[in-house]
Amino acid sequence: MLLKDTLAVVTGGSSGIGLAAAERFVSEGARVVISGRDAEKLRRAAEKLGENALPVVANAASTNDMKRLYEHAADHFQCKVNVLVANAGISRQTPVRDTSLEQFSDVFDTNVGGVYVTVREALPYLARPASIILVASLAAGQGTKNFSAYCASKAAVVSLAKSFAAEFVESGIRVNSISPGVANTPIFDSLGMSEAQLLDWSNVIPMKRPAEPAEIAAAMLFLASDASRYMTGADLAVDGGMSGISPF
Ligand SMILES: NC(=O)c1ccc[n+]([C@@H]2O[C@H](COP(=O)([O-])OP(=O)(O)OC[C@H]3O[C@@H](n4cnc5c(N)ncnc54)[C@H](OP(=O)(O)O)[C@@H]3O)[C@@H](O)[C@H]2O)c1
Repeated sequence: MLLKDTLAVVTGGSSGIGLAAAERFVSEGARVVISGRDAEKLRRAAEKLGENALPVVANAASTNDMKRLYEHAADHFQCKVNVLVANAGISRQTPVRDTSLEQFSDVFDTNVGGVYVTVREALPYLARPASIILVASLAAGQGTKNFSAYCASKAAVVSLAKSFAAEFVESGIRVNSISPGVANTPIFDSLGMSEAQLLDWSNVIPMKRPAEPAEIAAAMLFLASDASRYMTGADLAVDGGMSGISPF
């Protein structure tokens, strides 16, 4: 039980990678707070997780919502937060010629502003030591056609992890980011990509398949637990070899 007697907060814990992380953390003895904007989706996820999960409807990019989430978590569990996963994120196709500043900002508000608010509002509630994990992406380091807003937002997340790590290192709070490659989650439903496009993406993965969310969650467990106690300011690639192996 790597997370016995700990409290974890996972934003965007109602689906995909966040839900898999919450499931893994609970199986390792943690109590978890999961958040999302869609109350019904969140309720179903909490039901799956059982009595150790507290669902809180909250927009990760809203200061008021996140303040309320942490207050509610502290009231409910009567303890501090040991693990924080800033996972809530969206992906949108944003071809430069056709994308308004509002559409660009929408991606940044959630993926960057949301991470910032999630971490800032957590500070009074964090235990010492604590582990913060920011969910970035392989996209942080690779240009991708029609995804400039998403790629730039994830590059910002990797950068935030490093600066947060520097700012908190003396207070016992570790901050790392994790960069999945392609994982099999509902995020692709919102992109309007065809099966053929998704297959093309899978074919360029050295391991020739997308990750299952549980495989990303396993790496998150490492970053969450004491096993990674000497790591801070790092970005962990969990991408089936995409960032490290040349396609040639
Ligand atoms: N799947 C991949 O291939 C992949 C690869 C690299 C990185 N990632 C990153 O991994 C993270 C999780 O993605 P996923 O693939 O698991 O996607 P997903 O299945 O669509 O899950 C996204 C989660 O975030 C929540 N969310 C979105 N915007 C939010 C907001 N403003 N406030 C609170 N919650 C919000 C969603 O719930 P509501 O919609 O109800 O709010 C949902 O619970 C994202 O940051 C994504 O960029 C994914």
